Amino acid sequence: MADELNRRNFLKAAAIAAGPAAIAARGANDKVNIGWIGVGTRGYAGLDWLHTAAANDVQVTAICDTYQGYIARAQDRLQTVWGNKAKAYVDYRELLADKSIDAVYIMTPEHLHHDMTIAALKAGKHVYIEKPLAHTIEEGYDIIKAWEQSKKIVQVGTQNRSSSLYKKAKELVQQGMVGDVHFVRAFWYRNGLPNEPSWRYVIPAEATPQNTDWNRFLGTAPKHEWDAHRYFQWRLYWDYSGGISTDLLVHQTDIVNFMLSKTVPKSCMASGGVYRWTDKTDDRDVPDCLSAVYDYSDKMQLNYSCYLGNEFFGYGEEIMGNEGTIRVMNRQDLYFEAESYNAHRADRPNRAPDAIKARAAIHINGLLEYKESDGAINHFRNFIQAVLGKEQVIAPPPVGQQAAISGHLATLSYKNQKRAIWDEAAKKVQYT
Ligand SMILES: NC(=O)c1ccc[n+]([C@@H]2O[C@H](COP(=O)([O-])OP(=O)(O)OC[C@H]3O[C@@H](n4cnc5c(N)ncnc54)[C@H](O)[C@@H]3O)[C@@H](O)[C@H]2O)c1
Repeated sequence: MADELNRRNFLKAAAIAAGPAAIAARGANDKVNIGWIGVGTRGYAGLDWLHTAAANDVQVTAICDTYQGYIARAQDRLQTVWGNKAKAYVDYRELLADKSIDAVYIMTPEHLHHDMTIAALKAGKHVYIEKPLAHTIEEGYDIIKAWEQSKKIVQVGTQNRSSSLYKKAKELVQQGMVGDVHFVRAFWYRNGLPNEPSWRYVIPAEATPQNTDWNRFLGTAPKHEWDAHRYFQWRLYWDYSGGISTDLLVHQTDIVNFMLSKTVPKSCMASGGVYRWTDKTDDRDVPDCLSAVYDYSDKMQLNYSCYLGNEFFGYGEEIMGNEGTIRVMNRQDLYFEAESYNAHRADRPNRAPDAIKARAAIHINGLLEYKESDGAINHFRNFIQAVLGKEQVIAPPPVGQQAAISGHLATLSYKNQKRAIWDEAAKKVQYT
């Protein structure tokens, strides 16, 4: 009992110290009450991660989803992992009206992020919003404005920033291990079996227009008749997603920005198409092959490529400094190698100056070294700690917006078949 009172006093003191943005502790066990909007693929997995990250500090008291099958699945999981079921909603606005809810996780399709995040902030909730921050650049700025007015905590789901492996890579860059950096490669290559096309995720056999709220899924997207493909495979359609640009690329441009302490590129030239998944029954809009070349204002180029038809080279970011290379592969392995200036010829000596030669090669495996498979659990923990007034979030909306801008520039360049120039002062895109 004394311990519990101390804990309550501590939470209140922490909240006061952190100012109005932090939570005033309350509730049965002084736990932060979480409402969870979207319990699909990411949202369902996230229920477990939050338990690992912060079970002592939070409880999931409400969930919302527009597909009944996923609500039932999430309730089962909550019971198993958390030991309780939650109040279930189909309309997120009803969940937000519940004053006992302190914070929400929003894990819904991209086109819904804007309205849901702004409504949540207006309802006085702290928000964890999945990446990309929003479906367009303009919507992202609306969210930033609402966040500034609300003084609430918002964490954007670019979780690589919370990964110890990437923090280590940033540290190595800052120590000067690779020298100056003017060029970075990043890539994500995936594949699907011939009968399992990329991003054609399984549509639950039980899903029907009756147990799936199509209009709420659409939100403000263009009207369209019920279509299970669009509902469960929304990534493939421009109305709901930026495809590779905002689904995959943003993670990597974001983490390159993080490692190199950069914000936004000044231009992007993107090219690609639907080259692999061309079956006549496949009506996808978004490319399955995309390359994007970014130039930054301080003489740096980021060369990005993604292809959904071969996974041999996997996933990576490669920082190619004048004096060395840092590679983070599959978000699992970090390698550092100093330059040897011998053109990879075994018969030639290492010609590096002594100071560079002295930099020993490094290999760190994230699972072995940090017990992390990626940054997701840390990212959740960081959000909750910020809500409790004990930390600052590592990915607030302006940072999430920077990540999203790179993604949107790639989409805009691809669609317009022109180089997209980012005018940071005017916060607008121009084309050349
Ligand atoms: N950070 C990461 O690494 C990562 C990984 C995967 C997905 N994501 C992001 O997570 C979000 C969700 O992606 P996903 O793969 O889980 O998609 P998903 O389709 O599997 O899940 C989306 C869920 O939202 C529900 N939904 C749709 N409209 C709704 C509404 N109006 N109200 C409430 N629920 C609604 C759907 O029924 C579904 O359960 C996206 O923003 C995606 O970019 C992030």
